[in-house]
Amino acid sequence: MARFTITTAIDYTNGVIHIGHAYQKIVADVLARFHKQIDDEVYFLTGTDEHGITNTQAAAKEGLEPRQFVDKISALDKKEIESMDIRPDRFIRTTDEDHKKVVAEFYMKSFNNGDIYKGSYEGLYCAGCESYKTLSELIDGACPLHPTRTIEKISEENYFFRWSKYRDFLRDLIENNPLFVQPEQRRKDMIGFLDSGLEDIAISRPKQKLSWGIPVPNDESHVIYVWFDALINYVTGLGSMWPASLHLVGKDITRWHTLLWPAMLKSAGYEMPKAVYSHGFMNLNGQKISKSLGNVISPSELANRYGSDATRYYFFRYGPWVEDVDVSLEKIDAVYQSDLANGIGNLSSRLTTMAEKEGLAGLKDVSVSDEYKQFMGELKIVEAVELIWSKIKECDRTINETKLWEKTGEEKEQTLNKLLNILLVIAKETQPIMPNASLKIIEALTGEKIVKIAPLFPRI
Ligand code: MSP
Repeated sequence: MARFTITTAIDYTNGVIHIGHAYQKIVADVLARFHKQIDDEVYFLTGTDEHGITNTQAAAKEGLEPRQFVDKISALDKKEIESMDIRPDRFIRTTDEDHKKVVAEFYMKSFNNGDIYKGSYEGLYCAGCESYKTLSELIDGACPLHPTRTIEKISEENYFFRWSKYRDFLRDLIENNPLFVQPEQRRKDMIGFLDSGLEDIAISRPKQKLSWGIPVPNDESHVIYVWFDALINYVTGLGSMWPASLHLVGKDITRWHTLLWPAMLKSAGYEMPKAVYSHGFMNLNGQKISKSLGNVISPSELANRYGSDATRYYFFRYGPWVEDVDVSLEKIDAVYQSDLANGIGNLSSRLTTMAEKEGLAGLKDVSVSDEYKQFMGELKIVEAVELIWSKIKECDRTINETKLWEKTGEEKEQTLNKLLNILLVIAKETQPIMPNASLKIIEALTGEKIVKIAPLFPRI
């Protein structure tokens, strides 16, 4: 039995997640369900990143203590992902007690390996990124990712991680394992970063400046820097199932996952994750999705409008797997109509209506196709969906060309049976993507007699 352990980035709790965050969790959930379907041992980890300055500032704005605030947001995030039928094996919180323990142990391993030392830092900090910045990374003095935030000038004593020591190690890792950073373009970007040099990085903040964090185990006057803490969630969460088969992340945080994280793991003596896939960004109506722009749509709003299956389908098929994409309700409406209501929904009603009329017996179980397995296994998710939808079109074409509804007797039964079996394969192959609709099709086809199915994607 193969093992497939998948993680997503853990979301900051400075506000409730939007569909951009949910996109990644949907893809991870689909991949986890696919691997369960092919009988792999699966563990799917997601959660919330709760320490650090952004979370503290957001709590202060509401007049709450950080802990009260992150409890509230984390619970709301969990509801949001549940509305999309995302079912992680663990929803980890960086405030979980076991995580704090693992972070302290990890830190000490790296410290004892001589990779953590005390130094002083003077420079610029973007609270939105929770990271130090160089002047060359700013545009007109502002962070390109968080243009509305003020860049802080910081001067303080910190503990540093000897990141620079791992430059050759990282180069070998990334160059010799083409699948370690995917897609290829991002791998090239990471090699470019390595070529431009790697400086040691501050991994603690003085407690008097920021108390909301995990204490440095051998110096309680410091707390551990939020990225160092957050990345370790993967080791806490997977426990004895570490290493991760796949870290799924957005392109903005590829560097942390492919350059800092492997160096930290090497330093503390852990195995490397097998792969990091970094997807593009989703924009809404041509704009970056952002609370300050006020153009946020929550996953649960889409679940209410389209249902979780249709929303999952839309994001999985048309989301920013490689390149950035723009979404809008008009686009989702159109796809709902073309691919779902008129596509798989219509085909299922047509075939099961005819089968019920003919009194056809239920079908035996079928397997998913090898082609589908290969595409999904290789993260060629668009190709996988296109393969399934080409079968739907093929079935529609056969029904129309043979005018199946006009046929009778043996001829009708044979063609119908062939098409129903293809529909069953389609239902199985769409199961990870739209678990509820697929189950309805499977149940309608595999009972004692085939029964007519109610519209799966009614008009909205
Ligand atoms: N807390 C860090 C991650 C730590 S992982 C050890 C973080 N949090 S975040 O809340 O800012 O983002 C979480 C994930 O959502 C990131 O992978 C980010 O790329 C992704 N996305 C946030 N907005 C997005 C879109 N508009 N589109 C696609 N993904 C987006 O970074």
